[in-house]
Amino acid sequence: MKVVITGAAGFLGKKLSQRLAGNVTLTGRSGKPEAITKVTLFDVVEPEAPNDKRFTTATGDVADKALMDKLIDAETDSVFHLAGVVSSGAEADFDLGYHVNLDGTLAVLDTMRRLPHTPRIVFTSSLATYGGEFNKSIDDATPQTPQTSYGVQKTIGELLINDYSRKGFIDGRSLKLPTIFVRPGKPNKAASTFASSIVRDPLQGTRAVCPVTRDVKMAFLSPRRTIDAFVHAHELPGEAWGPWRSCNLPAITYSIDEIVKAMEKIAGPGPVSRIDWVPDPMIQKIVATWPGTVGWEKAKRLGFKADANIDEIIKAFIDEDMVKVA
Ligand SMILES: NC(=O)c1ccc[n+]([C@@H]2O[C@H](COP(=O)([O-])OP(=O)(O)OC[C@H]3O[C@@H](n4cnc5c(N)ncnc54)[C@H](O)[C@@H]3O)[C@@H](O)[C@H]2O)c1
Repeated sequence: MKVVITGAAGFLGKKLSQRLAGNVTLTGRSGKPEAITKVTLFDVVEPEAPNDKRFTTATGDVADKALMDKLIDAETDSVFHLAGVVSSGAEADFDLGYHVNLDGTLAVLDTMRRLPHTPRIVFTSSLATYGGEFNKSIDDATPQTPQTSYGVQKTIGELLINDYSRKGFIDGRSLKLPTIFVRPGKPNKAASTFASSIVRDPLQGTRAVCPVTRDVKMAFLSPRRTIDAFVHAHELPGEAWGPWRSCNLPAITYSIDEIVKAMEKIAGPGPVSRIDWVPDPMIQKIVATWPGTVGWEKAKRLGFKADANIDEIIKAFIDEDMVKVA
């Protein structure tokens, strides 16, 4: 079977590519587990392909419909649609956000609906689809009233996945991701990026700024569990999702203070002393629109798994992704 990953050069795209390069089978158009024979990694920047001859790369704009028609062809069984402009990026550049997050998703879906079979798609939505007056304690039934353009774009994406699935054009599933933490590499344009920075950078020997107060609470999932979730979401039968083809992914909620204390317990006082506390009212305001506690009953019912606790997440970063830079 052929799989396409959009946004394959990004943080999660790279990790998903590595996972599919292992000995993984996925449910193909036969409805049975099939060997993956081709994987196309697509991004606006050149993705890094694993050393595996089944993998090829392609570059371009996900909103370029003619390009999508070439990329997602009759051979394609499944698409993992990860390409996107993240929260602060979409907030800072209104046109770019709508172009990539909405026009891009429409281009992918419209190409998929013209295929002679019914392909599967896993769409990466976000908890940023919640907000405003309903943001305090959310679950799968909370109205999606996003307070950012990014959240609106992801909400529309989920509605499109529902409608295209209802029509039988695709077999879609949307995952509302919490903050995926700890993100390796460099900070990105997500408003949540500081949460990873204050763990990753001090552990790696450099300083990081925390722009929010210690009482701020955020919902997290580790990269490892996120990739497990992408594969699990793909494998679930379409009927399992019901008409609303989306769920909140399992998330555990911790305050910044609890994160810092866990880091100190695991790595001693050195890394924590490399955090500079410099408030940024704009980030604090965006973070305040995110949900405090997250219910994920549907994900539980569907067999998705959460991390055990914050210690497990920090230790996983140290084991899998930490780079000693100083
Ligand atoms: N990481 C998180 O905490 C998180 C949380 C919620 C939702 N998500 C969503 O999950 C997906 C993957 O997240 P990530 O953390 O890997 O983000 P990322 O920014 O690392 O990766 C996104 C990729 O999309 C690519 N892209 C941007 N514009 C493009 C275009 N016009 N055409 C093709 N590719 C384009 C980027 O080059 C990048 O490689 C995104 O859609 C994001 O919105 C992530």
